[in-house]
Amino acid sequence: MQLLENMQLLEISLEYRVIFGISGMVLLFTSFLIVFVVSQRKKLQYHKDLLALHEEQQQILTQQNILLEERVEERTTELVFQKNELQKSLHELNLAQSQLIQKEKMASLGELTAGIAHEIQNPLNFVNNFSEVTIELVDELCSELKDVDIEEAMLIADSIKQTLEKINQHGKRADNIVKGMLEHSRVDTGQKEPTDINKLAAESLRLSYNTFRAKDNTFAASCETFFDDSIDHVAVVPQAVKRVFINLFNNAFYSVREKKKRLGESYGPVVSVTTKKSGDNILIIVSDNGTGISPQILQKIFQPFFTTKPTGEGTGLGLSLSYDVIKAHEGELNVESVEGEHTSFSIALPD
Ligand SMILES: Nc1ncnc2c1ncn2[C@@H]1O[C@H](COP(=O)(O)OP(=O)(O)OP(=O)(O)O)[C@@H](O)[C@H]1O
Ligand SMILES: [Mg+2]
Repeated sequence: MQLLENMQLLEISLEYRVIFGISGMVLLFTSFLIVFVVSQRKKLQYHKDLLALHEEQQQILTQQNILLEERVEERTTELVFQKNELQKSLHELNLAQSQLIQKEKMASLGELTAGIAHEIQNPLNFVNNFSEVTIELVDELCSELKDVDIEEAMLIADSIKQTLEKINQHGKRADNIVKGMLEHSRVDTGQKEPTDINKLAAESLRLSYNTFRAKDNTFAASCETFFDDSIDHVAVVPQAVKRVFINLFNNAFYSVREKKKRLGESYGPVVSVTTKKSGDNILIIVSDNGTGISPQILQKIFQPFFTTKPTGEGTGLGLSLSYDVIKAHEGELNVESVEGEHTSFSIALPD
């Protein structure tokens, strides 16, 4: 009986235990489920938040994009405006530049015209004055001849001759100026041809020396040539370059002649010409041991009409013409001088 009771008790407790077990498990499962659901919800929420954030960011980005595009557009308009403005200023600058060049040309043309007018007016004044004096002299001569005073008439005739000589001298001066100017205007004309530079220099030296000797046979100078025979023919306009050589030799002979007048026997005039190769150039150097050129005068010698020679002896166009000829040959004409000692002109011509 006791055993039976115990057995029943045990069964009950077993049932309870089963019930408890199951309820425990259900409880555990439910709590797991709750935890799972809560965590899933949290995850869902997190994803929703993330999505919202993403959308928000997307919106901000779109706004920023619109803003940026607006700014780019603004900037582009600004840049286009600036570009147009720059183009306008460039155009204005070009216009101003061409106007300046034109003005400069007009100014140098004006200067040249003024120079020419001055140079020609001077001998023409002499021509006009002397011819007026001559007319008066002829009137006087006529009245003397009426009274038949031969001696007085002869004196007047002599004066007429002298004034006519002056007229002729100044007329020739004007003629030389015009000829020099015409040579200037012909600088660019003429055909280049292969030329024996040494031969051309030797010929010009002889020609210049003979001209000086013809005017004054007491004049003598030693003419020296130092030619580089390896120099081949050079493409130049021969007449133009010959003109340059003659100008330089004339100046050199003039200078040594002046020094000779001053120093007399103690001085031996020397004019020399040297040719040599220098890189891609041919150098032609004309030197003299004459009066030399002072630094103040040296700056002006290439200017048209600049001369230190007495009226009628120089037009002052020789060196400016020579400079233009050498420039037209894409060469260079340089000078080096020590006053009272010597002068050297060097011509560089492209080989
Ligand atoms: N070798 C030289 N020695 C000294 N002075 C010189 C020499 N060459 C040129 N000059 C100076 O340069 C000046 C200008 O020379 P340029 O040949 O242009 O004219 P010019 O000889 O006076 O006249 P022209 O038109 O007849 O040649 C000369 O008047 C002279 O003062
Ligand atoms: Mg000269």
